[in-house]
Amino acid sequence: MNYKDYIRVIPDFPVAGISFKDITTLLQNGEMYKKAIDDIKAMVSHLQIDVIAGPEARGFVVGAPLAYALGVGFAPIRKSGKLPYETIEVGYDLEYGKDKLAMHTDAIKKGQNVLIADDLLATGGTISTSVNLVNQLGGNVVGAAFMIELEALKGRDKLPGVEVFSLMSYED
Ligand code: PRP
Ligand code: MG
Repeated sequence: MNYKDYIRVIPDFPVAGISFKDITTLLQNGEMYKKAIDDIKAMVSHLQIDVIAGPEARGFVVGAPLAYALGVGFAPIRKSGKLPYETIEVGYDLEYGKDKLAMHTDAIKKGQNVLIADDLLATGGTISTSVNLVNQLGGNVVGAAFMIELEALKGRDKLPGVEVFSLMSYED
């Protein structure tokens, strides 16, 4: 079994030069989706985790089932303007484009141990911004877990002191 057999790679999407890793082909296979979440759960089993935080949209697809599997809460990290209560926001650069991410000010309690989850680590902009938000709320980021890591983009370098877990890695 190779997870990569279930990832569809689309060249030049959404812009020329980006090799898009499409996880929908993995998600549509119930056995593989479950195995992916169970394997991530096993990778982080040594950590003390109080809550999972995941950036929309694809981070929900990984983070929410992981939270359910671990029996912990889930804190959504959303793009600006989506959360109804009081928020904090941080701007960031994406692999393609710019955006702002936000969290509710009460999403994390001070001192809680937080695992951040997303589908993919590319430049690390999304996750370093997520770490920044969690830290601002007084949370303690104990790790970051992904289905896919794009090694050449060196996202790990933007996450000093954060333990990084991924099910599979690609050169580009
Ligand atoms: C994608 C992906 C990661 C992020 C990785 O999200 O789901 O969250 O890019 O790139 P980075 O490491 O360079 O930040 P995107 O912002 O495209 O939105 P989506 O999850 O809503 O599809
Ligand atoms: Mg995303």
